[in-house]
Amino acid sequence: MRISVIGCGYLGAVHAAGMASLGHDVIGIDIDARKVEALTRGEAPFFEPGLPELLREQVDSGRLRFSTDLELARGARVHFLGVGTPQQRDSDAADLTYVDAAIAGLARIVGPGEVVVGKSTVPVGTASRLLECILDAQPDASLAWNPEFLREGFAVTDTLRPDRLVYGVRGGDDAEREAGERDAALLDEVYADLLEADTPRLLTDLATAELVKVSANAFLATKISFINAMAEICEQTGADVTMLADAIGLDPRIGRRFLNSGLGFGGGCLPKDIRAFQARANELGVGESLHFLREVDGVNQRRRARVVELTRELTGGHERLDGITVGVLGLAFKPNSDDTRDSPALDVARQLLDLGATVRGYDPEASANAARVVPELALTDSPAEALRGADIAIVATEWQEFRDLDPASPELRDTVASARIIDARNCLDATAWRAAGWTLRALGRGTT
Ligand code: UDX
Repeated sequence: MRISVIGCGYLGAVHAAGMASLGHDVIGIDIDARKVEALTRGEAPFFEPGLPELLREQVDSGRLRFSTDLELARGARVHFLGVGTPQQRDSDAADLTYVDAAIAGLARIVGPGEVVVGKSTVPVGTASRLLECILDAQPDASLAWNPEFLREGFAVTDTLRPDRLVYGVRGGDDAEREAGERDAALLDEVYADLLEADTPRLLTDLATAELVKVSANAFLATKISFINAMAEICEQTGADVTMLADAIGLDPRIGRRFLNSGLGFGGGCLPKDIRAFQARANELGVGESLHFLREVDGVNQRRRARVVELTRELTGGHERLDGITVGVLGLAFKPNSDDTRDSPALDVARQLLDLGATVRGYDPEASANAARVVPELALTDSPAEALRGADIAIVATEWQEFRDLDPASPELRDTVASARIIDARNCLDATAWRAAGWTLRALGRGTT
């Protein structure tokens, strides 16, 4: 089937490559010429395990092309919409500029029988408005919503082996229902291989599909802030939050996944999605229903402040950190990603710099992005180099490379003069580090 994918960021680029690997003939469209050139060479414009291989294979097969020219999307039976919906500059609401521009473009080229399928995360109610735009331009075209749940670092697997497929389609009177059924049947053709592999498929209306995505992210953010709130209590009582998470996580109603306490959530999705969700609820007059998300955000921000406070505590307890050097291991918002958008690690680095500290940072993949966001950060090429001459080390992103560090190795042990380390992601073997002579403090865990 001929498919177009509008917007080739994290979501769109992976989706385009994934659809080509399902055997479709795919054109990816993006306004960024440099991104299109890289993708055309089969190169991923960002770090994503497995994506370069998939891109190269699919570009070589001739099934996957990229262009800045929307005209090339003309005639595709399905037009996936995968553009970004960032937070507005001066408010919590989602910025729909890219979505609206893409729909205006699609309205010019969409033909009868073709379906626009939204994948971007949008405020509930957006899809029905966009449907009107498409129908005004082409009454025999249609629109459905098919949210994307991919995680960075696992984007390829999540696209080719998703937990579920959610189709939001038109409904209402008989004609609308029939249109919705036709759109669902077309999506079944697109995803035939995934459905054959027994991927659960849920058919619903447009508004529910939009809400599935934002409520899933709100739930995940809440789960993380819940365990981080418990970490705050643990810190005051000498209890151990990781043990607590293991114990409550064994209850299948709770589950252990997404209960890792530490520096909290960041990235291009969870923080802005929970804020946009609250802004939308306010607009709808049901703001109170999501007031708790303010607390979720609050707990999340406090974890960052706590790491800064611990750094001060462990380096003499002064208000400012002038003359103190901090080695920060991990700058990406999470491991297996080079993404530094709303990265908790970088936020901590920024706060330490503001207090007068010298901050040396290391990340296996995110250095280039980190340099753009926090230019004052001294970037290094290895953990040992980041820690050389440091008064204190902070593990801020749980890359495997940091878990594998040998605390007893002289290369490391002798670099941090005072052998103090904050495990802000609860990812180190505290016993081994302490046995090697380090003073280790972890978030939400005792000091012994
Ligand atoms: C998230 C959703 O998981 C995904 O379904 C959605 O499509 C996009 O947003 P992503 O932002 O890629 O994906 O990262 P995710 O793995 O969910 O992690 C988000 C943040 O939460 C990271 O900063 C991570 O470090 C943090 N996190 C995650 C925790 O602090 N504790 C956990 O237990 C899990």
